[in-house]
Amino acid sequence: MIILTGASGGIGKEILQYLTGIDQVIGTYNRTVPKNQSEDKLFYDKLNLKDLQDIKSFVKRWEDKLSRVTLIHFAASSADALAANYKDSDWDQVMEINLKGNFALTRALLPIMIQERFGRIIHISSVVGIQSRPGTIAYSTSKTGLLGMSRVFAKENARFNITSNVLVLGYFEVGLIETLGDEVKKGILNQIPSKSFGKVSNIANAIKFLIESPYVNGAAINIDGAI
Ligand SMILES: NC(=O)c1ccc[n+]([C@@H]2O[C@H](COP(=O)([O-])OP(=O)(O)OC[C@H]3O[C@@H](n4cnc5c(N)ncnc54)[C@H](OP(=O)(O)O)[C@@H]3O)[C@@H](O)[C@H]2O)c1
Repeated sequence: MIILTGASGGIGKEILQYLTGIDQVIGTYNRTVPKNQSEDKLFYDKLNLKDLQDIKSFVKRWEDKLSRVTLIHFAASSADALAANYKDSDWDQVMEINLKGNFALTRALLPIMIQERFGRIIHISSVVGIQSRPGTIAYSTSKTGLLGMSRVFAKENARFNITSNVLVLGYFEVGLIETLGDEVKKGILNQIPSKSFGKVSNIANAIKFLIESPYVNGAAINIDGAI
């Protein structure tokens, strides 16, 4: 079973078509209720990653169906402002979803993975977390933090045939990019050697590779067009 958080987001919505070709998928959303209904290989469920009780109930609801779990953390939040003016509430919101929610959901699923001696944990970072960009203090910090978190999960759980890796994404055609103004988008495009945004199929290919490769563990794989 694949659990995909952020299934209602720009990349999440598009990647579902590839993931259902690999396994059954539980796609989670928070505020954006998906238009399509659950279907043969796809189940939608609401999960607020800021709510620890919600995370526990989610795992309880599905535990009978959970076997050979691949957990893919696409859910994320960002709030942009210069660091000097950054609001505490924005900082807390970004960290709660991007780091704490990710950690809490992984922790809640680990007992099932350990018992089965199988698990694939895939975190989604960003080139913004590596190269940094002005105005992204909390988002950038959270995406850097995932690199450390993923490696701890990898080292602690490799003996149970559980891997934890990070995909470090560049700029893709859908999702967060749509919130940027035309001038900013043009500036970013100019920095990408191929002068094009990434296609979601590239991320799906990497996920398939990670599911099939137990010795790829604690890695960070760039999918960024060499920006
Ligand atoms: N798009 C890019 O070019 C790009 C580049 C680098 C990295 N990334 C990373 O790729 C991932 C997906 O990005 P995207 O562009 O598809 O983002 P997006 O369109 O903004 O989607 C964000 C997703 O996170 C979910 N979410 C937000 N708050 C949540 C909460 N409290 N609990 C549970 N879910 C919550 C949203 O659910 P609701 O809408 O239902 O609330 C939505 O499904 C993110 O981790 C992002 O950092 C994207």
